[in-house]
Amino acid sequence: MKVVSIISTKGGVGKTTTAANLGGFAADAGLRVLLLDLDVQPTLSSYFTLDVRAPAGIYEMLVFNERRIEQLVSRTAVVGLDLVLSNDDRGELNTLLLHASDGRLRLRHLLPTLAPLYDLVLIDTQGARSVLLEMAVLASDLALSPVTPEILAARELRRGTLQLIEDIAPYRHLGIEPPPLHLLINRVHPVSLNARLIQQALRQVFQDHVGVRVLDTDVPAIEAYPRAATRGLPVHRVEFRQPAGRVAPAALQTMRALAGELFPEWRERFARVTGRPDVQATAGSASHGERP
Ligand SMILES: Nc1ncnc2c1ncn2[C@@H]1O[C@H](COP(=O)(O)OP(=O)(O)OP(=O)(O)O)[C@@H](O)[C@H]1O
Ligand SMILES: [Mg+2]
Repeated sequence: MKVVSIISTKGGVGKTTTAANLGGFAADAGLRVLLLDLDVQPTLSSYFTLDVRAPAGIYEMLVFNERRIEQLVSRTAVVGLDLVLSNDDRGELNTLLLHASDGRLRLRHLLPTLAPLYDLVLIDTQGARSVLLEMAVLASDLALSPVTPEILAARELRRGTLQLIEDIAPYRHLGIEPPPLHLLINRVHPVSLNARLIQQALRQVFQDHVGVRVLDTDVPAIEAYPRAATRGLPVHRVEFRQPAGRVAPAALQTMRALAGELFPEWRERFARVTGRPDVQATAGSASHGERP
């Protein structure tokens, strides 16, 4: 099981969009995927239609140590894509975890329960520093951070991103290595901005930092993303062909490149995803035999 947290020190950069679309794509590739919504604003929780809504969510999971899957896990309308809902309505989780001696390690301690059931866990987080964010990173094999061209210009980016990694570094003494951080350039305007130049600039900002890598894949700013969110669908199903006359590739191609770069071991599966509704069932169903 691979665990990826999607994080940023800035809000609105595309964390939830990335979590929903990467999760939907991996599920259509036949992987068993679990989304964890750690944001108090339950945007990811309401992205997909739910076929089965579990009575409990992230609150019971973290506060009461609830481990019964049927209590915790909701099933989305995308086959193979499950979700633990954000239900910390009063925003208490952060304080509760702050005062618990094992607060930042709670999620990490729950992973053995999930490991036999899922191939991939994607954690969506809030766009601010918090105990919950540190807890997510400490449970992850990889942290993925979307960066938009506007915030690239902000001085805050380097400081904020590196501070986050430094803050969890003391956990090395407990044998927990901070995960590598991958930066994903998101919302590049296909005509006015050159993605290669942005990548170069970003690589320069982080050049002396081991553990920080700028991904080769970038995500163009195209209206397929908000349109997919409105329809509650993963974006590769909404735009599987490149529209005539547009420079930016089809969303399917972007998601395939991103997933393949993050998880090279599953590249062959990703190559078979078509996004087309008529072939969806055969692409996705084959490997979902051992669903929890
Ligand atoms: N590549 C893209 N092209 C066009 N629109 C995008 C793209 N990525 C994200 N968006 C849009 O940008 C908005 C913000 O994205 P999103 O909600 O994923 O950000 P976030 O980082 O989760 O925000 P928050 O910090 O509030 O949780 C959404 O309306 C989304 O549809
Ligand atoms: Mg969000």
